[in-house]
Amino acid sequence: MKFEKNILCIGAGYVGGPTMSVIALKCPEYKVTVVDINKDRINQWNSDNLPIYEPGLDEVVNSCRGKNLFFTTDVANGIKEADIIFVSVNTPTKTFGEGAGMASDLQYWEKTAHEIIEHSDRDKIIVEKSTLPVRTAEALDKILSSNEKGINFEIVSNPEFLAEGTAIKDLIDGDRVLIGSHNTEAGLKAAKAISNIYAHWMTDEKILTTNLWSSELTKLVANAFLAQRISSVNSISALCEKTDADISEISYAVGKDSRIGSKFLNASVGFGGSCFRKDILNLVYIARSYGLIEVADYWEMVIKMNEYQETRFVNKMVKEMFNTVADKKIAVFGFAFKANTGDTRESPAIVIIKKLLEERANIAITDPKALKNARLDLEGIDQNVSYEPDPYKAADGSSAIALATEWDEFKDLDYKRIYDSMKKPAFIFDGRNILNHKELFDIGFNVYPIGKASLTHF
Ligand code: NAD
Ligand code: UGA
Repeated sequence: MKFEKNILCIGAGYVGGPTMSVIALKCPEYKVTVVDINKDRINQWNSDNLPIYEPGLDEVVNSCRGKNLFFTTDVANGIKEADIIFVSVNTPTKTFGEGAGMASDLQYWEKTAHEIIEHSDRDKIIVEKSTLPVRTAEALDKILSSNEKGINFEIVSNPEFLAEGTAIKDLIDGDRVLIGSHNTEAGLKAAKAISNIYAHWMTDEKILTTNLWSSELTKLVANAFLAQRISSVNSISALCEKTDADISEISYAVGKDSRIGSKFLNASVGFGGSCFRKDILNLVYIARSYGLIEVADYWEMVIKMNEYQETRFVNKMVKEMFNTVADKKIAVFGFAFKANTGDTRESPAIVIIKKLLEERANIAITDPKALKNARLDLEGIDQNVSYEPDPYKAADGSSAIALATEWDEFKDLDYKRIYDSMKKPAFIFDGRNILNHKELFDIGFNVYPIGKASLTHF
């Protein structure tokens, strides 16, 4: 079959895989190819067992794969064939050299630029899909225009706003798509080509166009604003625990102000995920590198508050359990960084468990989707850790439950049965405020929510 256009995505991860699957679904006249250097990942994309868990993803992939959606490790041919190349490789925090622990590690990104030059033989549009420091396109321009084949590469920024666990819904019915380009004839033409893709299923009002730098920076700012809301509410949760105010009531009442809005005001054990921390650190690094110290310090507090909240949660556990958890079994309910994903990157559960292990507790982890990743994350330090798909078995014989992920599965368990199987006094620390605290207290638990008075029998 002859396709109207060839779209390539470099990087078959949490963003590249779902995003391209939805583009293939909505644009049957385009051929969409996703390449990755990770052979195992590509094999999984070509199997019935996709490499990531995302509600609705299997259905979308199954309906397009082999028709207009292809997963392959053949990067060279993918580049050669493509009219438009989305680059969606990982951009983690740098772990070495200048900017270590703060700046974005752009090595994967830069490598793809050189690969694009090597395997291209005609003009192409290059789309920044990865989250990147503002003005990355400038560097990319310099690298790509150094090609000696006379090829013109037009750079467009099109950051991704999907959240894990709701990726397919976000991609199909997101709030907006953002496309940034140079304000030149070629730049605007390239932006139009990208907006034409999304116009297959999104209305014009939702397709926003800006200059390149605004688009790059908007992505960092959007994540910073979302994380800032969580840190703000979490900071108040600490005050609630001292004053018997209730953070859920406060979030509800504050969120009712339409200028503030109700979303992202759930107090928690802290935010996790691969991006909030890294993107804010990156924003802080950029601000500092321009000499904007107050701006950098302001945003850095969002991260510090999150670290405080994670540490506060686990310190409270130890303190309430009579200042010792040594040799006690503690069941950790949830290891994913949020519900409906198997992703565990930067999960608060990791911080909690590491600290409990330092205190010499024995840990039983249960999670509907994340046990495989939990094993990888705790490799080498998990002599006193067991991985248990069944929450009842995880809790059996334990002194405490720490709920770290807001899975629906944890809401409807038989907590009387769980209580009966636990050592007494039995503690439950609800790091997500999803359980019925009064009911748990009536069963016999000592209950410690976030940002609310604890309910104890002592
Ligand atoms: P990921 O680690 O899941 O996937 C990146 C993939 O790129 C990996 O499979 C890796 O093997 C591949 N890769 C690296 N170098 C390559 C190369 N030279 N050629 C081919 N493949 C290569 O990362 P992700 O979570 O999909 O994130 C990708 C980008 O999107 C990041 O910049 C991230 O900040 C951003 N982002 C992520 C999310 C999210 O929910 N995870 C949401 C919005 C934006
Ligand atoms: C986030 C953003 O929501 C996406 O728009 C963005 O594209 C993505 O980061 C990214 O750039 O990677 P994600 O990390 O997948 O998406 O998930 P969120 O729903 O934002 O949750 C992040 C963390 O905050 C989770 O640990 C979640 O449990 C926590 N959270 C969220 C709270 O503690 N309270 C809330 O009210 C909301």
